[in-house]
Amino acid sequence: MLAAMTEFDPRLLAADTTDDDEVTLERSLRPRSLAEYVGQKDVKANLTVLLEAARRREEAADHILLHGPPGLGKTTLATIVARELDVNIRYASGPAIERPGDLAAILTSLEPRDVLFIDEVHRLGRAVEEILYPAMEEFALDVMIGKGPSARSLRLTLKPFTIVGATTRAGRISSPLRDRFGATYRLDFYETDDLAAIARRTARILGIDLTPEAAQMLAARGRATPRVVNRLVKRARDYAEVHRDGRVDEAAVAEAMTALDIDSAGLDATDRRLLDTVFRKFGGGPVGVAALAAVLAEEVETVEDVYEPYLLRAGFLERTPQGRIATDAAYAHLTALGGDVPPPRRPAPQGSLWTATPPDGVREAGADAAG
Ligand SMILES: Nc1ncnc2c1ncn2[C@@H]1O[C@H](COP(=O)(O)OP(=O)(O)OP(=O)(O)O)[C@@H](O)[C@H]1O
Ligand SMILES: [Mg+2]
Repeated sequence: MLAAMTEFDPRLLAADTTDDDEVTLERSLRPRSLAEYVGQKDVKANLTVLLEAARRREEAADHILLHGPPGLGKTTLATIVARELDVNIRYASGPAIERPGDLAAILTSLEPRDVLFIDEVHRLGRAVEEILYPAMEEFALDVMIGKGPSARSLRLTLKPFTIVGATTRAGRISSPLRDRFGATYRLDFYETDDLAAIARRTARILGIDLTPEAAQMLAARGRATPRVVNRLVKRARDYAEVHRDGRVDEAAVAEAMTALDIDSAGLDATDRRLLDTVFRKFGGGPVGVAALAAVLAEEVETVEDVYEPYLLRAGFLERTPQGRIATDAAYAHLTALGGDVPPPRRPAPQGSLWTATPPDGVREAGADAAG
């Protein structure tokens, strides 16, 4: 393990795995300070206090856990934390840190108060996590030297640092790990006005002629997600350059969205296919996520992390203990778009029979229980 500590695995610093174009775009568009970071008022307010306090004490900030659906700004916020603290940031991700030695190598290479960003922190291996516990709690690294009966453990002291962990699923983080984060922030979907501000900012940076009305229109179709809105801005620009005079106004957005098959609620073909499947194959639900994913030929995790959060938030889907239900709003939406979907086969509204005319005996049983 000591040998592993001296070499450094370059994969650990790799950026997200999207294509180069998107990566460059995301980097150039990333806000660099809390002031530039649009929306997430509560998170920003709390983080401001945490960072200011750490700066005043000249200490490493507490470990921070960021969670929320993809594309809401977790990586961006981690980068901002380091900038605001005026320290370096190292990027790593849960699945890329394969061996405890990999993590030990990173931790020993940090300068005092540096930030270590761990993306997909819920996917850290068990052995790696165990190295992390004392490291986070006491800035201590326990290494085993030798093997067999002569093996002994050695405790190394680390320079204080801050871990910023990010995850799309807080529920998957083991509780000992979760407990070691001093601050946990949940990023929420963005309001349309905030997204419009992000669209305008992006247009300004990329030199796109985007009218305020068109920005609002893109924002309404951006799945309440900055990453999606930035992509739509770029795609609308492409469309306007190729098919029109380059100016992105409402007419250009309308045409571009039609070409991309994105509807007025911001749903794309995959979203609609998901809802359509729930109506067509499962009578509107409830259907278990595993069955739904199988019919869609998607991973359960992709359905849960990527498609569902926005459909839930938009009120097109509901999660119940029995499974997913496509709502009446989803039915109305698909029907308005001309989809020939079968109406949901729902059981009679819950409790209607019983509360209206309870059969004899039921009332008594209820009264007994209450008394
Ligand atoms: N608050 C914000 N203000 C302006 N732009 C933002 C904001 N949050 C995110 N963005 C933009 O959205 C893009 C995606 O953000 P980011 O990569 O930080 O999301 P993420 O939460 O880390 O996503 P994932 O879970 O997929 O890793 C960034 O390139 C950034 O330009
Ligand atoms: Mg990220």
